[in-house]
Amino acid sequence: MTESITITDNRSGNQLEIPIVRGGVSAAEWQKLLPGVWFYDPAFMATAACDSAITYLDGENGILRYRGYPIEELAERSTYLEVAYLLLHGELPTAEQFDTWRRDITYHTFIHENVRKRFLDGFHYDAHPMGMLVSAVAALSTFYLDAKDIFDPDSRHKQIIRLIAKMPTLAAAAHRFSVGMPFVYPDNTLDFCANFLSMMWKVAEPHFEPDPVLVRALDILFMLHADHEQNCSTTAMRVVGSSHADPYSACAAACAALYGPRHGGANEAVIRMLTEIGSVDAVPAFVESVKQGHGRLQGFGHRVYKNYDPRAKIIKRTADEVFAVTGKNPLLDIALKLEEIALADDYFISRKLYPNVDFYSGLIYQAMGFPLEMFPVLFAIPRTAGWLAHWVEMLDQDSKIARPRQVYGGSEQRSYVPVHERGR
Ligand code: CMC
Repeated sequence: MTESITITDNRSGNQLEIPIVRGGVSAAEWQKLLPGVWFYDPAFMATAACDSAITYLDGENGILRYRGYPIEELAERSTYLEVAYLLLHGELPTAEQFDTWRRDITYHTFIHENVRKRFLDGFHYDAHPMGMLVSAVAALSTFYLDAKDIFDPDSRHKQIIRLIAKMPTLAAAAHRFSVGMPFVYPDNTLDFCANFLSMMWKVAEPHFEPDPVLVRALDILFMLHADHEQNCSTTAMRVVGSSHADPYSACAAACAALYGPRHGGANEAVIRMLTEIGSVDAVPAFVESVKQGHGRLQGFGHRVYKNYDPRAKIIKRTADEVFAVTGKNPLLDIALKLEEIALADDYFISRKLYPNVDFYSGLIYQAMGFPLEMFPVLFAIPRTAGWLAHWVEMLDQDSKIARPRQVYGGSEQRSYVPVHERGR
């Protein structure tokens, strides 16, 4: 039996039956009966903005899959570059396809000298690295004029490779500038994550060899952050891309969305919260104050996951491996106590509040030496693959330009009053 809903227009008595297809009903069908009556849905709480085959997310059951593959299996057995290929192409690469993919990305890691010397060096000395990244990604569109040919498959592929390859270089350059260190050129003998760590931390040694445990941890974190279906930044990418802007401009918009503390800044908020709590003994009082409505437990709760965030489970294991190399993050004990108390407290249980991916990711990044300002940048690097996968999908679906309607709540028509007659 086909599932459906029936709508009755009580003004006319007219009825329309609309099938429920994969959990959704078509707004185009709805419009046939009710033209000019809009769904009022700010923040898209009940609106599916697209039909996507990239990422499956079931918040009630804590399931996350990229192209059908469970995130747990990918985090255990794959790499970020392979996951990026999967997200973009829909299938895991053959050995030959992966070699080409890796080689192409490796040879596009360099940025034009003018991006660094004239553009990045022009920022104020204390510029935030995420602000620099947003601007630098947008600026790339002025270096690659062929990026405007978004329906030319060769051009599209080239921009995808360039963006994935250059994000770590731009990110590390932004960091080096913000701490007054000289720029480090990419080392194409290193893999994606190792090369990023080299560009971040290399000082005077001829060749930087990062610890393989830290490289693998970063690779896992990058896989976990590579996509998360229609989140705020991905929606920005699709909306801007729907105007047929070039992918650098659309990606810069997505980065800007990620810059906001409600999206890319939660793990930084976790570190600030743990630092403020200060000691394990102070945890119970802090939890009480949250329950009294004084602030939130950062890194807890999720708009979609109402059981547990599968990424949080993976990340907790990764944290132990990282701390074995870097030494334990002193904030870890506070975090563990907080988790223990909250998970046993009815306030958090009844509201289905569990640790999310950001509860532990900040602790790992901090232990690895990344400053707090780099946290959203570390999110943007891997999410680029997800943004681009959605951009390609949106273009292939020949999507119309995104253009929501509104419910108007302002003044009725009125006449202009000259300034000297106003206020009488
Ligand atoms: N600490 C304490 N109470 C909370 C929290 C929290 N972290 N999150 C939600 N609540 C309470 C909230 O006060 C409300 O209580 P009541 O029903 O008594 O008014 C109830 O739980 C429902 O909250 P909500 O704001 O309606 O839930 P939401 O789905 O709109 O918000 C959230 C989701 C992630 C914005 C929220 O849980 C939050 O602010 N968490 C802390 C910030 C955070 O960790 N953000 C990272 C999310 S993961 C990032 C990613 O996936 O990319």
